[in-house]
Amino acid sequence: MACGLALTLLAAVQARETAPKPAYKDASRPIEERVEDLLARMTLEEKVLQLNQYTLGRNDNVNNMADPVGDIPSEIGSLIYFGTSPELRNSLQHRAVEESRLGIPILFAFDVIHGFRTVYPIPLAQACSWNPALVEQAARMAARETRMTGIEWTFSPMIDVARDGRWGRISEGYGEDPYAHAVFCASTVAGYQGDDLSDTGRIAACLKHFAGYGASEAGRDYVYTEISRQSLWDTYLTPYEAGIRAGAATVMSCFNNISGTPGSADHYLLTEVLKERWGHQGFVVSDWGAIQQLRAQGVAADCEQAALKAFNAGLDMDMMNRCYDAHLADLVRAGKVSGERLDDAVRRVLRLKFRLGLFENPYTPESREEERFLRPESLRIAEELAGETMVLLKNDGGILPLREVRKIAVIGPMAKSRFHLLGAWAAHGNGEDVESIFMGLEREFGERAQLSYAVGCEFDGDDASGFAEAVRVASESDVVVLCLGEKANWSGENASRSTLSLPAIQERLACEVARCGKPVVLLLTSGRPLELCRLEPLSDAILQVWQPGVRGGYPAAGILSGRINPSGRLSVTFPYATGQVPIYYGRRPSARPHQGKYQDIPSEPLYEFGHGLSYTTFEYGDLQAPSTTLRRGEKLRVEIQVSNTGACDGAETVFWFVSDPVCRIARPAKELRHFEKRMLRSGQSGLFVFEIDPERDLSFVDGEGNRFLEPGDYYVQVKDKRLKLTLVE
Ligand code: BGC
Repeated sequence: MACGLALTLLAAVQARETAPKPAYKDASRPIEERVEDLLARMTLEEKVLQLNQYTLGRNDNVNNMADPVGDIPSEIGSLIYFGTSPELRNSLQHRAVEESRLGIPILFAFDVIHGFRTVYPIPLAQACSWNPALVEQAARMAARETRMTGIEWTFSPMIDVARDGRWGRISEGYGEDPYAHAVFCASTVAGYQGDDLSDTGRIAACLKHFAGYGASEAGRDYVYTEISRQSLWDTYLTPYEAGIRAGAATVMSCFNNISGTPGSADHYLLTEVLKERWGHQGFVVSDWGAIQQLRAQGVAADCEQAALKAFNAGLDMDMMNRCYDAHLADLVRAGKVSGERLDDAVRRVLRLKFRLGLFENPYTPESREEERFLRPESLRIAEELAGETMVLLKNDGGILPLREVRKIAVIGPMAKSRFHLLGAWAAHGNGEDVESIFMGLEREFGERAQLSYAVGCEFDGDDASGFAEAVRVASESDVVVLCLGEKANWSGENASRSTLSLPAIQERLACEVARCGKPVVLLLTSGRPLELCRLEPLSDAILQVWQPGVRGGYPAAGILSGRINPSGRLSVTFPYATGQVPIYYGRRPSARPHQGKYQDIPSEPLYEFGHGLSYTTFEYGDLQAPSTTLRRGEKLRVEIQVSNTGACDGAETVFWFVSDPVCRIARPAKELRHFEKRMLRSGQSGLFVFEIDPERDLSFVDGEGNRFLEPGDYYVQVKDKRLKLTLVE
C-alpha cells in the first residue's frame, strides 16, 4: 500500500518534471507573452490578490501605524517591507514561490526617499545643488542598498511642486519650480532604475503623489486642494509627464481632493491622462489607506463603493486599505467592474514583476551589513552632494571664509545634534551614522582653531537657563558659529507648521549671542524655507545647511573654512515673513505691479529662487544669438559668456528663463527652461549655451493639456540680461 503511494507520488513528480514548462516560467520568451500566459491561468481570487499590498515586519512609520496583517496569503501582490536584511523577506517569498499554486513572486516595497541607510540630503536640498548627475549617483547608491536588502520598489521620487513652506512635505520634493522637478525627477528615476530593472543593483521608481498634493490649502496635510485645470497642467502635471517619459515604472495616487474629486477616484487623471494620453504601462498604487479614505472625503458611502470608484477610475493596487481584497471579486461578479479592467490592472503588476526578473531570481542573497550600507563610495557621494546643496544666503563684509580665527564658539541646539541632520523619511537612517556639525568643525579646523561649545537652549520650549553660558562662550571667542534649526520631524508627512520662523527661544538665543559683538555665522538646518526677517539682521553670514544626511558636518565646516566654495542656489523662495506664502518666482503678472503691496511688511521675498553666494565673483556678458528671429521647427543657439573674476575657483549655475509678455493664456512672469552648473577656475571664462527649440521651450500648455506655440515676441533671460526673440510662422 505504502509502496503504491510512493510510486504514485514519484510518477507525479516525474510528470511535473517532464511536463513542458509553462510559457510564463520561460525566461527566453518576451515579457508580454509571459504576462498573457500567466494571466490566462489565474482565478478571479488570484488576480484580486495581486492587486493588494500589505505590510511585513515591524512598522515604525508613525503616520501609518496599522496592525500588521497576521495572515499574509502566499498570493499577495506586494508587501511593504520594514526589515533591514533579506531573511524575513526571503521566507515570505519562499512561501509565495513554492506554496502558491502559480508561484508568483511578491513585490517588496519601501519608502526610500533620500537614501536607505546611507542617508543623503533631503530632496528639497538636493535640488539646490543644481547637479542632476550627482543626484542620479546618490539615487543609484540608494537603489543598491535597497535591492541588496530585498526591496525592489521604492515610493520615490516625490514630485509635488510646493509653494507653501508650511506644508511639511515640501522637504520631500524639489522645490517650487515645475521644470526643476522635471529634471531632478528624471535623474532620480534614472538613478534608481538604470536601463535594466532586473539588474540586482536597481529598483523600480514610483512617482508620487499624483497629483497636486503640494497645493494643500493653508499648508495643512491631506486636505482639500483647489486647482484649476489650467494650473494642473502648467504647474502640477509637468514633472509627472517628464517622469513617465523617463520610464518611471509606477505611480502613486494622491490623498488630496482636487477641486471636488479625490485623486484616488479621479478617472481623468489616472486613466485619461496617465494611461491613455501618456501611455503609462506600469501600474498605479494608492497612497496608504487612500481608498477607504474616500469615505471621509465625502464621495463613498462604504469601502465597497470606495473600491469601485477607485478601481474604475484607474487605481490598480490597494495599499493597506483592505478594500480590494474584500470587495473587488464581488464587484467583478456583479458586473460592476469589467473583466477587462481587472485584467488590465493585473497585467500591469505582473509586467513589473517580470521586468524586475523576480520569476528568475525571487530571493535576495544574504550579505553582511558592511557589504551593503555606508560604503566608502556612498559616503563620498553623500558628502559631495551635501556640500553642493548648502546655500550661502548672506556674507556681509566677506566674514566667510574664516581665515585667521583662533577661537570659534559653537553654539546652539543643532551644533551637536546628529539625528536631526537626517531629516524626515530617513528610511533606516541612524543618528549614530551621522557626522554632526561640531564633529565636522573639529575635523576641519583641527589644531588651527580652538572650539568651545554651549547648547544655549533646546529646539523649543522656554528654558533660557543656558543663555548665560552661551554668552560667556561667545564673549571669549573670535567668531560665533550659531547652529539653529528644525528637528527632523518638524517637516515631512503630517508635519505642517503655522509659521516658517524658528521657535522664539532660538531667536532669543540669537539676540543674546549677537549682543556680545562678535561676528555671528548662522548655520540653519531645516526641511523648509524659513522666515528669517529677525535672524538676518543679527547675523553676519548665513549658511543654509538644510538636512544634509549622514555627511553634512564636514562640508558645512569646509564652507566655513574656505576649503569648499559654496555653490548651492535656492530651489525655493525664502519669504520675508510667513504672511507672504504662497510665494514663488513664477507668478502670473499682476494687474497693478506697483500697487497691491503689503502695508505692514515688504512685499519682496528675503531671498529669491536661485539666490546663493559664492566666495568668488562671476561676471556675465551679454546674451548673444546669430539671429533674433526664429521659426517653428528650427533651433536657435543663444550663448552667454560667464567669467570667474574673483580670486578662487568656483561653480556657477546659469539659469535660463523665458517669458512671453502677450499670450492668450497669461503666463508666469518668467519660467525656468534650462540650467547648467559648471566649475570655472579663477580667471577662467566659459560659454554657456541654451539651444532653444521653440516647440519645447517657448510653447505653453492649456487647461486641456494641449501644447501650443504662438508667433510673437518672447524674452530669454539670464540674471538681469534679456534678449528679445521673435517667433515667426
Ligand atoms: C505617504 C506616502 C508613502 C506611504 C507608504 C503614505 O502615508 O503619503 O508618501 O509612500 O505612506 O509609506
